[in-house]
Amino acid sequence: MKSCKLLLPVILFLLFGCFRKERNVVFSAGGAPNEIEFWETILKDFEKESGIQVSILRQPTDSDLRRQSILVPLKAGKEDPDVFLMDIAWISQFASADWLEDLAPAVEKDKFDLSVLWPNILDFADRFNGKLAALPVYVDAGLLYYRADLLKKYGFKSPPGTWEELVSYSIKIQNDVRKTKPDFFGFVWQGSQYEGLICNFLEFAGSNNGGLKINDSGIKINTKENLEALKFMTDLIHKTKISPPNTFTEMKEEEVRMFFQQGNALFERNWPYAWGLHSQEGSPVKGRVGIAPLPRFKKGKSVSTLGGWHIAISKYSDRKEDAWKFVKFIVSKETQKLLSMKLGWNPSRMDVYKDKNVLSVHPHFAELGKIFTNAMPRPNLPYYTQVSELMQKSINAVISGKKEPEEALAGLEKDIEKLSARYK
Ligand code: GLC
Repeated sequence: MKSCKLLLPVILFLLFGCFRKERNVVFSAGGAPNEIEFWETILKDFEKESGIQVSILRQPTDSDLRRQSILVPLKAGKEDPDVFLMDIAWISQFASADWLEDLAPAVEKDKFDLSVLWPNILDFADRFNGKLAALPVYVDAGLLYYRADLLKKYGFKSPPGTWEELVSYSIKIQNDVRKTKPDFFGFVWQGSQYEGLICNFLEFAGSNNGGLKINDSGIKINTKENLEALKFMTDLIHKTKISPPNTFTEMKEEEVRMFFQQGNALFERNWPYAWGLHSQEGSPVKGRVGIAPLPRFKKGKSVSTLGGWHIAISKYSDRKEDAWKFVKFIVSKETQKLLSMKLGWNPSRMDVYKDKNVLSVHPHFAELGKIFTNAMPRPNLPYYTQVSELMQKSINAVISGKKEPEEALAGLEKDIEKLSARYK
């Protein structure tokens, strides 16, 4: 009887412990459909190398929707997703809520070389209160895509340097192309009510010497420079009419990318990922597209918003060790090269930019370096996403013609002030 009692736990262990299959590490990632598809390939490579199985939790493209879908399990303290991609815009919210595992001890233990990663980005976005909250996977900056064939046909030697030029080139070419293609527009950009709109607004405003100015008395947004930029954005849709009327209802990254790729626009504002898709086999604009810095207002300089996605491990994960192995794999030179060559992403590792194979696929990387080094970050505040939500609502109301820009900016500044006061 006594030996039976001793044997029981052993039998139970053999039945339920030893043979129980460990759950897969869950990785949540979103993006354009080809990006999610490519993650599946990466996960298979990782499994082959490490024996660790990782399942992907598919998310949409829209940054806000991605954030909301991760917030739910994190607020509930769920074990999965174990590891996820985070927009640079929400790292400080997640880190200040203490949802992210500090990666510093693992980095130290494995002597993982952080010096290969862009130091300014790592310091600005990933370090939080002495902890290493995340590691960058790829860097984004807003770019101007243009139809090189059309500019040449209509006698324009180079892409527009100023917004005024962009408008005049657009009107000229749009008027003529519309004779055979009535749905053709000069310029497509992200105007829908979501984070992408704020990235666009900050570029228009920044290139007019405006933007969000943070000082001791708060966040200043109601300025002459911002007002001019906002009026200009509204005019693109309602006055000069070089941007389509669905700009403020539908236009997010993928809608804009597809519109341009179908051959329906002269200029497009988008992130680097669009390059790979525009140039792929079967794309109607393959071989006809150029990339340039975004235009500026006469007295300003070109400004690109700094974007990008970073990888972090959930504090609630019960597979942290394996999740860390996965993180290292994603930030390794080999994987970064693959992500860059297949998806056109700008790697977070500086050593990949010098790689001959990468440069042969993306000769424009050399030139993009400058844009990335000068890209303008959004404010790194734990409540930035709430500031952004207020801005999204007001700015979208202006560009859709529902609110006057003066009234919107004045109201916005007050609302942001009230919000900030709660966090002081
Ligand atoms: C891109 C950028 C991200 C930005 C988002 C807005 O995914 O990488 O930083 O917030 O677009 O739509």
